Amino acid sequence: MLHDKRILLIVSGGIAVYKALDLVRRLRERGASVRAVMTPAAQRFVTPLAFGAITGNQVFIELFDRAAEHDVGHIRLLREADLVLVAPATADLMAKMVHGLADDLATATLLASKTPILIAPAMNSVMWANPATQRNVAQLRADGIAFIGPMSGEMAESGEAGVGRMAEPLDIAAAVQAHFETSPAPGVARPLAGRRVVVTSGPTHEPIDPVRYIANRSSGKQGHAIAAAAAAAGAEVVLVSGPVTVPDPAGVEVVHVETAREMQAAVDAALPADIAVLAAAVADWRAKGTAAQKIKKDGSGRPPMLEFAENPDILAGIGHRTKDRPALVVGFAAETADLLANAQAKLAHKGADWIVANDVSLPSTGEGIMGGNTNEIRLVFHDGVEEWPRLDKRQVAERLVARIAAYFEPEDE
Ligand code: PMT
Repeated sequence: MLHDKRILLIVSGGIAVYKALDLVRRLRERGASVRAVMTPAAQRFVTPLAFGAITGNQVFIELFDRAAEHDVGHIRLLREADLVLVAPATADLMAKMVHGLADDLATATLLASKTPILIAPAMNSVMWANPATQRNVAQLRADGIAFIGPMSGEMAESGEAGVGRMAEPLDIAAAVQAHFETSPAPGVARPLAGRRVVVTSGPTHEPIDPVRYIANRSSGKQGHAIAAAAAAAGAEVVLVSGPVTVPDPAGVEVVHVETAREMQAAVDAALPADIAVLAAAVADWRAKGTAAQKIKKDGSGRPPMLEFAENPDILAGIGHRTKDRPALVVGFAAETADLLANAQAKLAHKGADWIVANDVSLPSTGEGIMGGNTNEIRLVFHDGVEEWPRLDKRQVAERLVARIAAYFEPEDE
């Protein structure tokens, strides 16, 4: 949990400010203490009084408030924080961070921060997609700032939807927790420090026409947990994710893609790497030629014919590389029959070093492995198989990462 963790929450102005109150509650119920800094725009949505009541602390709003500066001061606010959390982070605040502006207490605090910063953007989807915002996001990531969200969904403006909603308070609290788990105290082992890991996760969506696509039930839970566990073990992680609703893990560079071909391009761009773990459920097939307009019924009663084209096999591409092949290539096998035989065949054909095999047939009761919270795997090597019990996907991820770390340990250790 978050006992003894001190969070400095910077609240900038947008309709999502109201969710930041619930976020404070979620952080405090996990044991964190929270101090809030509000921008002038944030105060137009919710009063400092509300944040004062819910944090149980003084709320800081003025850079030039003599009393507050004398009493605490923004530098001391930072010194007394373990994490700076910006939620909601508006497009304007992110742009100011990129340029190092410091014209109010929030921006001055961010500019003076040596404390890690996690930000939860919230804005209209058109503002999020704007190239200026995307340039700023890339720069902030390059500056070492971690992101949670934004998520896709309905916007505050009625009838509008898209990517830009602030992540839900529970997901932000989980990202804060993950931040502390991926930044262990000095002395805690980080066996993958200095290693670069590429992970794929989630489904791919293959468009049929502007409104329809081919997809599968993968949620991204398993792949995202692996990325988080690798980061916790000290690795530099690039996570290439298909369309999912699970939040981006903290401390990981996330590349969002839709289709198999986009996933392949993002994986290739992330190489060279020491380790590749390909947990995504990539569509083997895509519709040949996406219709430019929505396909309509023609009244004849005859369904339209869909022609398929084969997608690139990302795992096989990496496994058989002659240049920049990661030292360890781990593929998955999602099977509904003959688990081991099919996994062994994939190990051989796709040039992988290990295959994580799971039976994804839908059970008549309980949750399925694809989409669910648990997994039961067989770890298949060229010279043997390990059987693991049914575990939470996070435990599977931690165990797999421990196995990967052991693979890289010098034999005399
Ligand atoms: O996302 P969750 O809901 O948490 O579920 C996790 C999971 C069930 C999706 C995951 O554990 C899993 O099994 N992932 C692999 C799913 C899959 O597509 O398996 P496959 O047997 O079809 O593919 C074998 C391997 O080749 C996989 O590593 C896959 O990423 C890769 N592949 C497949 C097709 C393709 N065109 N390119 C690929 O790289």
